Amino acid sequence: MATKFHLGWFLQGSSVQAWGEPWTGNIGTDWMQPRFFMEMAQNLERVGFDYILIEDSSYIGESFNGRGIYLNAALSVPRQDPSVVAALMTQVTKRIGIVPTFGTFAYPPYLLARLVATLDQVSAGRIGWNMVTGSSDYAARNFGLPGMPDHDLRYDMADEYIDVVKKLWASWEPGALVADNQTGVFADPSKVHSVDFEGKWYKVRGPLNSGPAPQGQPVIAQAGGSPRGRQFAAGHADTIVTSVKGIAGMKAYRDDVRARAKALGRNPDHIKLLFLVDPIIGETMEEAEMKKARKAARAAERLHERLAHFGKTLNIDFSTMDLDKPIGELTTNGHQQSLDEFKKKAGNKTLREAMAEWNSTSLCVELLGTPDAIASQMEEAMQEVGGDGFLFSMPNVSRRTVAEVTDGLLPALQARGLVRKKYAFEQLRDNLLEY
Ligand SMILES: Cc1cc2nc3c(=O)[nH]c(=O)nc-3n(C[C@H](O)[C@H](O)[C@H](O)COP(=O)(O)O)c2cc1C
Repeated sequence: MATKFHLGWFLQGSSVQAWGEPWTGNIGTDWMQPRFFMEMAQNLERVGFDYILIEDSSYIGESFNGRGIYLNAALSVPRQDPSVVAALMTQVTKRIGIVPTFGTFAYPPYLLARLVATLDQVSAGRIGWNMVTGSSDYAARNFGLPGMPDHDLRYDMADEYIDVVKKLWASWEPGALVADNQTGVFADPSKVHSVDFEGKWYKVRGPLNSGPAPQGQPVIAQAGGSPRGRQFAAGHADTIVTSVKGIAGMKAYRDDVRARAKALGRNPDHIKLLFLVDPIIGETMEEAEMKKARKAARAAERLHERLAHFGKTLNIDFSTMDLDKPIGELTTNGHQQSLDEFKKKAGNKTLREAMAEWNSTSLCVELLGTPDAIASQMEEAMQEVGGDGFLFSMPNVSRRTVAEVTDGLLPALQARGLVRKKYAFEQLRDNLLEY
């Protein structure tokens, strides 16, 4: 019997999805209302997705000669606070996990622990927190900071941060909630404790006043790609999402994170690694090939936008560079792994050529063809990599693209026994650990 794998969806923020793409209806004005996101959550739940991850950042990009291009083209803007749409999604679903992103630099740990515990309560145990350190000086300045701390230091601080958050979540022991109508006792004071945390960067008294989270410790998602980031993820994450490219890279990444987790005394099987994919699904192979060509043409037409978007995650202003010269030496205090992969692929190519190639290559692995063909490709990839699943990241999210996945691809995956047909459990972590 085939080994099952997990599925997630990477939603580009609580925002305009796919501005300028076809079949997006009136998204330019409808995005403020949550209807599309709520329907999407219901549709993904109908076919057994493990979770939806809601990306976030808390600033408007400026890394491409100012803000103009970001606002014109709706590049990572607008961004509603993801906790609101996450809460709304939980109210129209019963099983799927909802995983909003919160940056450690933007939320004091007490506020974060309380927010995530509250979301876990209203979802009856289906919340994950996509734990990011943040990487942009522009974002840092929205919170009174002069800029982001150095890359590795951010993870050192995050180690301490997560320690406090976990202690706050544990500040209500199991059994602390009594709610006994007979005796009139609501909570047992002997089971609710201060945390009295005093570390290098954070100081928190506790206990958490929201009460306990149904999962005890809500699920933690992470996407560390650099060696320091992987070490962090291996130590704390229940699920890791990554965009590392190619089967060999995916396997190496997974083996590395699992080895790190083992060395830290964790069971590597308790960490589910999901690989970013953007399948191009057609009714026929010809249709899929046509869509692929259209996608490449669109990327070439929108070269500046793609550079602006990429530059935002790297804190690099590509507008100052000559498109027709080799990329030369580039460094970042932002997403290190993406830059390393980009530089490796670019070699001596010009920026224009390197970006064209970067945009035309698939995310982790190419998935192209009919639903049946893609189901085979996914099966093969998982056999080679060893697990644990895929995170869909479609650049053209719309009701149509969601339906291509839920009603086109998923039946093919389910028929092969590669994914679940229905949920075995009510809470997110239990469903992640089902297989
Ligand atoms: C699938 C995926 C989703 C991510 N989502 C976010 C996000 O919502 N917000 C954010 O600030 N960073 C996000 N990141 C960036 C990661 O947190 C991380 O910074 C990046 O993968 C680079 O790894 P490093 O920090 O170890 O260099 C995401 C990365 C990946 C691969």
